[in-house]
Amino acid sequence: MIERDKASYGRFVWNRHPSLVRTAFFLLSCLLFLVVAWVLGMLLLSLTKRSDPTIPVCVRKKNGCRLSCLLVWAVGASLLFGCRTEYREDLDYSHKVLQTWKIEEIEEGVFVQFEDVFWEADDTTSLRKMIALDLIVDGKSVLEIGTGSGVLSIIALKSDAKRVVATDINPAAVANAKYNAAMLVPDRTLDVRQVSQKRPGAFEVIGESEAFDIILSNPPWEDGVVAKPLDHAFYDPQFYLMETLLDGLPLHLKPGGRCLLAYGHRPAIERLQDQCKERGFAFKILDRRNLDDLKKDFLPGMVVEIRVPMAVRELETESDISDAEK
Ligand SMILES: C[S@@+](CC[C@H](N)C(=O)[O-])C[C@H]1O[C@@H](n2cnc3c(N)ncnc32)[C@H](O)[C@@H]1O
Repeated sequence: MIERDKASYGRFVWNRHPSLVRTAFFLLSCLLFLVVAWVLGMLLLSLTKRSDPTIPVCVRKKNGCRLSCLLVWAVGASLLFGCRTEYREDLDYSHKVLQTWKIEEIEEGVFVQFEDVFWEADDTTSLRKMIALDLIVDGKSVLEIGTGSGVLSIIALKSDAKRVVATDINPAAVANAKYNAAMLVPDRTLDVRQVSQKRPGAFEVIGESEAFDIILSNPPWEDGVVAKPLDHAFYDPQFYLMETLLDGLPLHLKPGGRCLLAYGHRPAIERLQDQCKERGFAFKILDRRNLDDLKKDFLPGMVVEIRVPMAVRELETESDISDAEK
């Protein structure tokens, strides 16, 4: 079940304006505690005055002052220490927070959605369950193409993936995925890479020698024009991302590896099936629903599995060798 959580929004406003808020909060707190400490000191002074009139007034005043100072410094130091641990220098706080979300695969903490970043958890309901419950990434290397808020990659890290690389073409998504990973899996590293608008191919920021056990994506489902950063979540102009993803599988998917894609759009699934057939890839829909019974657009999305048979790999290697010899 997805729960939208606006209550914790304040925490992220704190993080978005670290220097200003931290300074103002620290100064205000100091002022407040100075007043409290002074009142406490005066109270103590009047108590000692009543209980032991033999102590000279100057000593009692000094004790009151010492107590006030001690309290102020203790509170100030703990505040300063607390503020430091709250704030991470390596994250980008310039993006506006749209809202926060809770999902059942990650019980503790919430996902933050930055402005201009995609969030529709129903797209990936089955894929998230496969990652979190079926141990498909346990000890495996994972690549996620088009990570958005980082939701799939973060669940993969939580589910003991050995290594996770995530890419996105939208700079707000790259910052968002880094932020969510830092908050939700602080003990693991999510390697988030920015894809450039000029070179939007699926493996453009993946090294030639990098290969993965699992390649995941909830890609944009339709061919269309991208006018603003958020449009990348919905439109894949001329299906260039789909084409380059399939073309790169023999090189970047390890032998025996699985490419798992989430789709809720019939024409895209049918196109993908045709493209896989042309390339000799194994294509399988991992869903009990029959594609023909579904509307053009449907939710929750279904998972499509693509595998590259050994025979296709061998053919690719042979053609690479003959290309090199020419
Ligand atoms: C439908 S959203 C899915 C986001 C996230 N994986 C999720 O399930 O919530 C598709 C994502 O792919 C990204 N994207 C689109 N074209 C891309 C490309 N050529 N390279 C990398 N990411 C791309 C978009 O910016 C968007 O964040």
